[in-house]
Amino acid sequence: MLFFSLLVVPALSALAADDRSYRRRDPVTGETLLCDRCSPGKRLSAHCTRSQQTECKQCEEGTFTEFWNYIPDCLLCDACSDHQRIVRPCNGTMNTICECEPGFYWDQHFCKRHTRCKPGHGVKAAGTPHRDTVCEVCADGWFADITQAHAACVPHSVCDADQHLMLPGSRWHDNVCATCQQLTENGWACLFKPVLTGLHIQYKTPILRLQNLVNRRLQKKLRKRMANGSSELLNLPMIREESDLGHLAHRISHRVRSFQQHC
Ligand SMILES: *[C@@H]1O[C@H](CO)[C@@H](O)[C@H](O)[C@H]1NC(C)=O
Ligand SMILES: *[C@@H]1O[C@H](CO)[C@@H](O)[C@H](O)[C@H]1NC(C)=O
Repeated sequence: MLFFSLLVVPALSALAADDRSYRRRDPVTGETLLCDRCSPGKRLSAHCTRSQQTECKQCEEGTFTEFWNYIPDCLLCDACSDHQRIVRPCNGTMNTICECEPGFYWDQHFCKRHTRCKPGHGVKAAGTPHRDTVCEVCADGWFADITQAHAACVPHSVCDADQHLMLPGSRWHDNVCATCQQLTENGWACLFKPVLTGLHIQYKTPILRLQNLVNRRLQKKLRKRMANGSSELLNLPMIREESDLGHLAHRISHRVRSFQQHC
C-alpha cells in the first residue's frame, strides 16, 4: 500500500515535474505518470510504469551524463584535439576538459601557436592557453633579445668603466661592449655572437660565411683610416637595403678595426 501511494501521490499533485522527474503518458493505460529521472552517470533503460520505477543503466566507458536525465544513450566524451592536453579526463558524470598545450592558445575552435613578437618588439603580456602573446615595440634605449623566443623589452646594458662601446644596441640586440683584452682573447665573432645570431634569424644571413668574410677583411692591411664609428652600423633599414653579405662584412670589419685602434 505504501509503495502504491508513493507512486500515485505525486501523480495526483498536478504532476509538477522538477529537475529530478519527468511526466510520461503510459502507452498502455493512457495515464500520465511522474517518472524519476536517472542520476548523472546513468541513462534511461526503461520508463517507469504504474507499478515500476524508472530503470537506469550506468554509462559505459567513454560516455557520460552530467545532469539528471531520461535520455536513452549517454553522451560521447570529447577527445582533445591537436595541440591540446587533458586537464581532466571524462569520468561518467563530467565531460573531458581539454586545454591548449603550453605555447598555444584557444582561438575559434583551434589551438594556435602563440605569436612570436616581431624583431624590435618585446612581450608585454605572456600568452596563456586562452590568450595570445601581447607584444609592444621597444622604446628607445631598450631591446628585446631576438635570439629568445619570448623576450620582453629590457634596457640596453651599460658598458663597464674599462669597456668600450663597440656597437650601439638596437631594438633587437644589446649594446656590444668590450675591453681590448676581450677583443684579443675572444675575437670579434664571440663578442658579436648575439648580433650575428639575430642577423641569421631575421635575414637568414649565413653566419659562417659572414664570419669568414669579416676575418678575411680583418687580415688585410688597413688601407685607410676608418671614419668615426657610425652609430648605427647594423641598423635594420640599412641591412634590408644592402642585403649583400660582403657589404655587411665590410661594415663589421670596419667596426672591429676602428675599435682596435683604441687599444
Ligand atoms: C567526476 O569528477 C568530478 C569532478 O572531479 C567529481 O565531482 C565527480 O564525482 C566524478 N564522478 C565520478 C563518477 O567519479
Ligand atoms: C663623424 O664624422 C663626421 C664627418 O665625417 C662628423 O660630421 C661627425 O660629427 C663625426 N661624429 C663624431 C661622433 O665624431
